[in-house]
Amino acid sequence: MIDYEVLIEKYRPKKLDEVIGQYEIIKRLKKYVERKNVPNLLLTGPRGSAKTASAHCIARELFKDDFSLNFKEFNASDERGINTVRDKIKDYANVKSIGDVKFKIILLDEAESLTSDAQNALKRTLEIYTNSCRFILTCNYSSKIIEPLQSRCAIYRFKKLSPQNIMKICKNVCDKESIQVQQEVLESIAYVSDGDARRAIGIIETARLTSESNIITIDDIYQVASLIDKKTIIDIIKTALSGNFVSARIMIDDLLIDGLSSLDIIKQTMDRVEDMSIDDKTKIELICIIGEAHWRISEGEDDAIGLHHMIANIAQLGSLI
Ligand SMILES: Nc1ncnc2c1ncn2[C@@H]1O[C@H](COP(=O)(O)OP(=O)(O)OP(=O)(O)O)[C@@H](O)[C@H]1O
Ligand SMILES: [Mg+2]
Repeated sequence: MIDYEVLIEKYRPKKLDEVIGQYEIIKRLKKYVERKNVPNLLLTGPRGSAKTASAHCIARELFKDDFSLNFKEFNASDERGINTVRDKIKDYANVKSIGDVKFKIILLDEAESLTSDAQNALKRTLEIYTNSCRFILTCNYSSKIIEPLQSRCAIYRFKKLSPQNIMKICKNVCDKESIQVQQEVLESIAYVSDGDARRAIGIIETARLTSESNIITIDDIYQVASLIDKKTIIDIIKTALSGNFVSARIMIDDLLIDGLSSLDIIKQTMDRVEDMSIDDKTKIELICIIGEAHWRISEGEDDAIGLHHMIANIAQLGSLI
């Protein structure tokens, strides 16, 4: 787990220009830095899309050598109460900045964890200290930030990284670390990480440890990332559709025995149906069956029962076509 963090830290973008994929946002953030005037910011968007990294880059580029004197980070999920806002944040915001920039920056990472009392207290703090301190809030869902706080910030919505951009980030890490990866491996990392660059780099780190060499293969990814090879899933669907319920059930049980979670199995089954060359009507029926299984298990149905139920429904569908 410690090593897992190593590559993430090592390849954290050091400059705004190194942030991949969020080009429109980065262009505007760079303008603030050039003008040495940063408003209060709310950076919102999915996990591992460079919100925290961008906040650090803004402060580094703005304060340069005085970075550590003028920048302070609070992780709101550790310090979520009103007392943090009242005491620690105010104490820091109160003291003048050092150097040629007129304000300091406070990063409130994962701000949606702040209680609503704390968010309300922050609203006033933002206004009182506007001359001496600017705030950068990050969160995954802007709806979890109270409206009056949102309206006091310039809001930037980070996008989930595209598979191409995830592959670009991973290729860069692998090249610099002298790790050999083939295109197919990069594609599977992009698939599993689902737009989250932190997860993608974490997979490389863990796969490197598992593989004990400087080559990462698709099997390493299957192992570390709960990825099932496409053929296995398509075999299960086809076996069930052909009416062979017992064999399909044994195959799906094997996946559970291998330690895969039922929701991982279902998500990947859904993705494979999309790729299968079967008629549209069957595809729609399959998607409904798999979607229902996902819902049932998410609502608390036992994993094995939920999966067997799904397989039984697919077998029943097979008998009708
Ligand atoms: N757009 C990107 N370009 C390059 N690297 C990225 C990008 N996004 C994320 N990363 C990599 O992923 C790591 C995690 O990114 P970061 O902590 O900024 O994500 P985040 O958006 O704050 O996610 P969370 O919502 O989970 O806090 C970074 O250290 C960096 O290595
Ligand atoms: Mg973050």
